[in-house]
Amino acid sequence: MSADAGILEVVDGRPLVDGTDVLDLAQRIPTPFFLYSARRLRWNVESVRNAFTRRHIDTDVLYASKACSMMWLLRHVLASGIDVEVNSGGELWKALKAGFRPDQIVFNGAAKTVPEVREALRVGIRALMVDSLFELERVAAVAAELRKPATVALRVDIDVPTQTHPGMATTHGGKFGVDLAQAVDGYRFAAAHEWLEPRGLHVHLGSQITTTDPYVRGIEAALDLVAEVEAACGITLEFLDTGGGFPVPFKPAEGAVVDPGDYFRAPFAIDEYAAAICGVLERRRPDLRLLIEPGRFIAASAAVLVTRVENKKVKYVRDARGGLLDEERWVTVDAGYNTLLEHCLYHWYYPSIVAGRPDEEAPAPIRVAGPLCDAGDVFVGDDEAGCRSLPSGTTAGDIVLFSQVGAYGLEMMTPCNCRPRAAVYAVEDGVVRRVRREETYADMIAHDEGWEPRRSG
Ligand SMILES: Cc1ncc(COP(=O)(O)O)c(C=O)c1O
Repeated sequence: MSADAGILEVVDGRPLVDGTDVLDLAQRIPTPFFLYSARRLRWNVESVRNAFTRRHIDTDVLYASKACSMMWLLRHVLASGIDVEVNSGGELWKALKAGFRPDQIVFNGAAKTVPEVREALRVGIRALMVDSLFELERVAAVAAELRKPATVALRVDIDVPTQTHPGMATTHGGKFGVDLAQAVDGYRFAAAHEWLEPRGLHVHLGSQITTTDPYVRGIEAALDLVAEVEAACGITLEFLDTGGGFPVPFKPAEGAVVDPGDYFRAPFAIDEYAAAICGVLERRRPDLRLLIEPGRFIAASAAVLVTRVENKKVKYVRDARGGLLDEERWVTVDAGYNTLLEHCLYHWYYPSIVAGRPDEEAPAPIRVAGPLCDAGDVFVGDDEAGCRSLPSGTTAGDIVLFSQVGAYGLEMMTPCNCRPRAAVYAVEDGVVRRVRREETYADMIAHDEGWEPRRSG
């Protein structure tokens, strides 16, 4: 299996996921729906684990469950033998429910509540990654109240710029982490506190980091900080957590040319990230355990979104005097940002194919829109005009498959415009089964209260 291919294979014009014909499936199952591959999930876990452990044996892989915390997926991640990172009380609850042991769980999060900290300490998770000096005092207070020591690592903004999407960059400014200038003070406080056990440092740089260079600079800076903390506080840190961020190729890499600002292309393989990160660690601090928290890399390529064209039209573009300038072809599919929020929130590009139309059919520039009552619900195009290059015969009833959609999708679905959230299916050992049912209209009012008319008399 190749890292670039995702899970879709087109054989004789038929789209297959692990041998399952998706067109056949779409005849039987109402669209839109997600289709996950258990095989791909396992492959992604294996490739990241092997890449790192063969270079730095003391590496722990923790799946970042914010990427997708559907129970089926968590169970598969657990079965593949890795640990988990959570960033809310809800994710902690789901991880425990899925069967992870508390000592397999670390807890990040930009605003942990007292009840969340209390629950994390009560169950005895492996470590809390602390986001500010204020939060460190909060964790200390809860630990003292429970009389349970809290294992902590500071999440530090290690001040290394990245060139990913601005919404995904988490160092060199922004809301995350303790400022580098305050980090030593934080460790001094923790080292002196009866109920805090500072054991590590956390430096997640961001998501979809398309070159290895920020990791090298980030880890060099992190190891400088580790040395400073150890000297200043008289402690020895046990682990460095470099977070996640390993990218997925939403667009094919173009030869050897690397433009780190083009965050849809991912020219380096996971092996190259492992070589860069472990290289610095092995050279400077081979004794430190390495924790990594990949989310997108594990989940994104494991799913496709199956949608159907429900509407089509031609719109005419005219000049001020009504003269015809151009024609635009549009198709509207049955999933928009209610199903794939990031296509709108971040103008994210998800590759698509029209299923069942022969490869040789001439491509035409077509705009693809979602169904929502919002002019912004239009998928990012292949060209600058915003068009996708689709088979010229694309028409109503056709199935459009979006790939690389397995991460940061399900979690963000909404019933916008009262369109129920989509169902999720999975291919497992050649068998397709539903792993999350679609929402019903009744689900959409299940939480509404006090709206039914009172009976008189
Ligand atoms: C602390 C932390 N760890 C891990 C991740 C996962 O990142 P990715 O999905 O890019 O691997 C994130 C993403 O936001 C994060 O904030």
